[in-house]
Amino acid sequence: MTKSTDIRAIELDAQAIEILRGNDCGTYTVPTKGLYPYQWNWDSIFVALGFSAFDIDRAWVEIDTLLADQWPDGMVPHIIFRKVDPGYFPGPDQWQTNRQPPTSGITQPPVAATVVRQLLEIDRDLNRDRAERIMVALDRWHQWFATARDPKGRGIVAISHPWESGRDNLPDWDRPLSFVDTSGVAEYQRRDTQHVDADQRPTKADYDRYLALVQFGREHNWNIEAIANGNAFWVADVGMNAILLRAEHDLAAIAARLGNKTLAKRAEQRATRLENGMEALWCEALGGYASLDLRRNEHAKTLSSGIFLPLYAGAVSQERAERLIGLLVDWLDAVRFGVPSFDPHSDQFDAIRYWRGPVWAMINWMIAMGLNRHNRPDLADRLRRDTQDLVENSGFSENFSPITGRGCGGDEFSWTAAIWLAWASPTHKRATA
Ligand code: GLC
Repeated sequence: MTKSTDIRAIELDAQAIEILRGNDCGTYTVPTKGLYPYQWNWDSIFVALGFSAFDIDRAWVEIDTLLADQWPDGMVPHIIFRKVDPGYFPGPDQWQTNRQPPTSGITQPPVAATVVRQLLEIDRDLNRDRAERIMVALDRWHQWFATARDPKGRGIVAISHPWESGRDNLPDWDRPLSFVDTSGVAEYQRRDTQHVDADQRPTKADYDRYLALVQFGREHNWNIEAIANGNAFWVADVGMNAILLRAEHDLAAIAARLGNKTLAKRAEQRATRLENGMEALWCEALGGYASLDLRRNEHAKTLSSGIFLPLYAGAVSQERAERLIGLLVDWLDAVRFGVPSFDPHSDQFDAIRYWRGPVWAMINWMIAMGLNRHNRPDLADRLRRDTQDLVENSGFSENFSPITGRGCGGDEFSWTAAIWLAWASPTHKRATA
């Protein structure tokens, strides 16, 4: 590191801390002011990782706050509406989940156990009762996935809404979404396009379908059987399954460390079930893992950056790992900054529209972990370096164009700041496993 990059990195470290502190509402952190004014599930977990670089106690508070509003059935909601904010749509009145504080009725990818395991490495003296409470909550959440989202025991969990994947408008959802009936959706006013240019957001047709699915859940009181049996959108997402699989292994490791053999065994059993189930997502014709529309038993015909997450989950044979890594290198060579969220060779690729092309820092972090796991620290560092360059050139945006590096979406984004502090900053000591 040269002296000038050193100074720049130190300045950016300070800015990242300022962003997290600025978005901190006391016991939880908003993703960004304006566009996303509430607590989001996986955002908070990445935020905790960011806080752990400079304030481990605050990191634990973020985790505790998120898990405090776990539903009685084990689900940890994707949004918790802690303070009324009329600037966001769809708010609590649309979800009607009858919870206090109000929440949405769906979940998000469970990165929590993976991050908690890392936090426990940093904070070996965390109070045992607190660690156990967190572990038990995570176990209940993972069990909810198995029960609510895989009722037939296939070994792959479904998402009931594109928002559940955390990758809202991925082209993979276009076809399964096309079967969602929007005729009952009343007039509504979007708020997101008041904060961010419409060409960087999902389209109106997408939004109608998102709302039709919220309406279905609401009309069925968010009952898990009704959703599993009747929700028009029921898709096994590669990203969600890979993240859950890794989380199960990490939960088992946490349990082993805390001496809870029964819980460790349960998590490993669920992991084995997922590992076997993931076979159904491999699509030889595409040369990768593809999401599976479980209503039609049909693979997506498109590849997203989610296909690299099985490397992070650690469930891939050597031969497949090599193919996936070959594909990743091909994608990286096709753009200036990796990893694009969607296949840069596809005609559906859109460099600035949310999950149809832009680079997301936290996805890079996860893919890099997978690359380290498969003995490619060189490529993992290439992704870190790309993330560093993006932030150095464009600041802490929500996401970035893989072609120009331009920052897209919201500004002063918590998870971009968090990933900078925990990984992308050249001042950070590397510990990615
Ligand atoms: C968008 C993203 C989702 C994220 C949320 C808040 O909906 O797609 O992954 O959690 O914004 O940042």
